[in-house]
Amino acid sequence: MKELEKEKIYSQYMYSFPHKKMYENIDKNIIKNILLTVNGEISLYIHIPFCSSKCGYCNLFSVVTKENDYIDKYVLQILKEIDYIKNMISLENLKVTSLIIGGGTPLILSIENLEKIFNKVESVFSIDLKNVDFQIETSPNETSIEKLLYLKERGLKRISIGVQSFYQNELKNVFRQHSVEKAKKALDNINEIDFLVKNIDIIYGLPEQNEETLLKSLEKTVEYNFQEIFLYPLYVRENTILGKLKIKVDEEFQYYLYKKSVDFLEKNGYKQISMRRFSKKIETTGESCGFENSISFGCGGRSYLNNIHFCEEYSSNLNECKNIIDNYLEKEDFLQNITGFVLDESHMKIRFLIKNLGHIFGINKEEYYSLFKCNILEDFKEITYFIDRGLIIEDKYSLKLSKDGIGLSDYILYTFIPDNMKDGFNG
Ligand SMILES: C[S@@+](CC[C@H](N)C(=O)[O-])C[C@H]1O[C@@H](n2cnc3c(N)ncnc32)[C@H](O)[C@@H]1O
Ligand code: SF4
Repeated sequence: MKELEKEKIYSQYMYSFPHKKMYENIDKNIIKNILLTVNGEISLYIHIPFCSSKCGYCNLFSVVTKENDYIDKYVLQILKEIDYIKNMISLENLKVTSLIIGGGTPLILSIENLEKIFNKVESVFSIDLKNVDFQIETSPNETSIEKLLYLKERGLKRISIGVQSFYQNELKNVFRQHSVEKAKKALDNINEIDFLVKNIDIIYGLPEQNEETLLKSLEKTVEYNFQEIFLYPLYVRENTILGKLKIKVDEEFQYYLYKKSVDFLEKNGYKQISMRRFSKKIETTGESCGFENSISFGCGGRSYLNNIHFCEEYSSNLNECKNIIDNYLEKEDFLQNITGFVLDESHMKIRFLIKNLGHIFGINKEEYYSLFKCNILEDFKEITYFIDRGLIIEDKYSLKLSKDGIGLSDYILYTFIPDNMKDGFNG
């Protein structure tokens, strides 16, 4: 294996395996069968693929629209899809434990549209949102006090807002359309209300950002005293605005900024949970990030049911996203034209490793053995390489990234992806 290549520390954003780019058209009957037999605890995910403008770095599944009719139509289609899926699953064998609304910018939706979705989920799955882990994402321009009060009333537990920086020039450089003043107002609004978990996203490595401005942004961030902060390295992808402008990031400098940020956040009472996540309280103790089941509605999200992963067609190209949404809006049969991936045991092993090693609790070796009847060190020879370099620490029960290892998570986890499945993580 090659020594660490400094320019590749952040070239892959490791968050899930396999990447959606590996998905291919999947037989409708495979999905029907898995929906019919799935049981136990399940999460629901709803993707709202709309934003009021496109940020320069963003390759998430979202399009720019302010057309209310288009958004209304999408919401109605989600309600239709929920009804459709209801008839495919055996509801009495399922227990919905969470509802996550992501995007895009979910709070672009009007209160009326949010209400339609929440009411549908509650009635179809016989739940009260007040009793489940209910989360939503927002951005500064969409965070009105009226919407926040409404979300509180419906039982929202976690709200996450993208602030990215408290410097106007840094926001402008990445075509972020909100003003610093607007972000402060949105944060004040959120702090008016008592949500269980509040999170702020910040990016390091922005053009013109330096150590001083990043730390000042973090100073401002911690003043709000939110429970969580997500700290992202700026990833520049080819098919984004920044990618097309050939903006380059110095990854070695970014890594330096990362280390300074970790020190700062730890001094301010935040504990590191993963490379990106910092939290004032740890809600679980050594629990595995196992193979949770999740059903996703709309375009842009994905469903994970045991070893079957599937979603609507995927693209990070703006025009293609728009076409995919247009096709979704006309759908009658929601299992038509679905793409997916059937994981075999070797894929499940990699998925387990990636999900657990990226987290401070690490991998429980016995759990791996009980799931796969193999020793993880024999399955993944690369682990020994990283142990020898002090990036992974082994004890009797577990394998965990060291402090330096956590900072290099993207790089380390990527090495476990088979060569023929690397496509997508760096595109
Ligand atoms: C769905 S957005 C959050 C909600 C909302 N859309 C917003 O941007 O305010 C998820 C977060 O991912 C981060 N993110 C997305 N693409 C990124 C990239 N290419 N580089 C670094 N961070 C990125 C941003 O911090 C962003 O806030
Ligand atoms: S970062 Fe957030 S607001 Fe910006 S385009 Fe992406 S999803 Fe939309």
